[in-house]
Amino acid sequence: MDALACITSKQQLESFRVEFLGKKGRLTQVLRGMGSVSPEQRPIIGQLANDIRLFIEEQMDTLLLQLEANELEVKLLQEKIDVTMPGKRQRIGKKHPLTTVLDELVDIFIGMGFTIAEGPEVELDYYNFEALNLPKGHPARDTQDTFYISDNVLLRTQTSPVQIRVMEKKKPPIKIIAPGRVYRSDTVDATHSPLFHQIEGLVVDKGITMADLKGTLEILCKKLYGNDTKVRFRPHHFPFTEPSCELDILCPSCNGSGCRVCKSEGWIEILGAGMVHPRVLERCGINPEIYSGFAFGIGLERITMRRYGIYDLRLFFENDLRFLQQF
Ligand code: PHE
Repeated sequence: MDALACITSKQQLESFRVEFLGKKGRLTQVLRGMGSVSPEQRPIIGQLANDIRLFIEEQMDTLLLQLEANELEVKLLQEKIDVTMPGKRQRIGKKHPLTTVLDELVDIFIGMGFTIAEGPEVELDYYNFEALNLPKGHPARDTQDTFYISDNVLLRTQTSPVQIRVMEKKKPPIKIIAPGRVYRSDTVDATHSPLFHQIEGLVVDKGITMADLKGTLEILCKKLYGNDTKVRFRPHHFPFTEPSCELDILCPSCNGSGCRVCKSEGWIEILGAGMVHPRVLERCGINPEIYSGFAFGIGLERITMRRYGIYDLRLFFENDLRFLQQF
């Protein structure tokens, strides 16, 4: 029993069991040796060996319970939670500046009665170019070179194809915006990225004129940049609008005298727009004799850069927390 008293773990207990009660254990040896014991002695020695075995097993059971209780106690002590330890701070993310400005723009347009439309980023050549008066071989396609999946499938270069998709499905009155990603095979620099975002706008109804276009976009600029923002509409060309224009705001940094922000222009370009070309309406099954409309396309990165005074477009896409945490 001294041997049992020294046992402090379950492994030791198991070795003990093997040593005494195992196949080659000491007690088993005694029972094996019974053959050489005289028949009169045999039952006595057999009984004795059995009693000893029962006794050892009993002792072992008691010891096992005790060992298990000890183990549990040690475990409980080790796993004690120190409630005074400082916690791990969960860092909370926030909206990307592009998302913040997009949400704001969406709010402004919804306030003016627009609804939101969507179109695919992987687009047919027909919707991205052809239906917008940019047939194959048109020189204006060169400025919007993109990534082709096949001859007729490409990554859209603008959100304008959503105009066509909406007009094919829905008859006027139409009043939608369509925000989303667009792609061009431009080399990355401070003002170019092969992926950027646009917000398309389209209004089609009876009696829509350039005055509606100007009024809507002027309100947009004032809501976005403040009530005393000065805007100007400058003639431009897009194949799918006629007439076309670009909208500039007076540079808020220099008030028109010319500075680094406006690249000495005095004005900053905000968006492209125009009256929907009659051929575009016609192609979508809308009679241009009855209906007219205007459309516009806003570059989200550009608006966001103006808003926060960001000078490098690449910062939007680098996921650097030192940048993102400033907004
Ligand atoms: N899609 C044109 C562009 O990417 C912008 C635009 C949209 C112009 C709608 C006029 C009308 O440059």
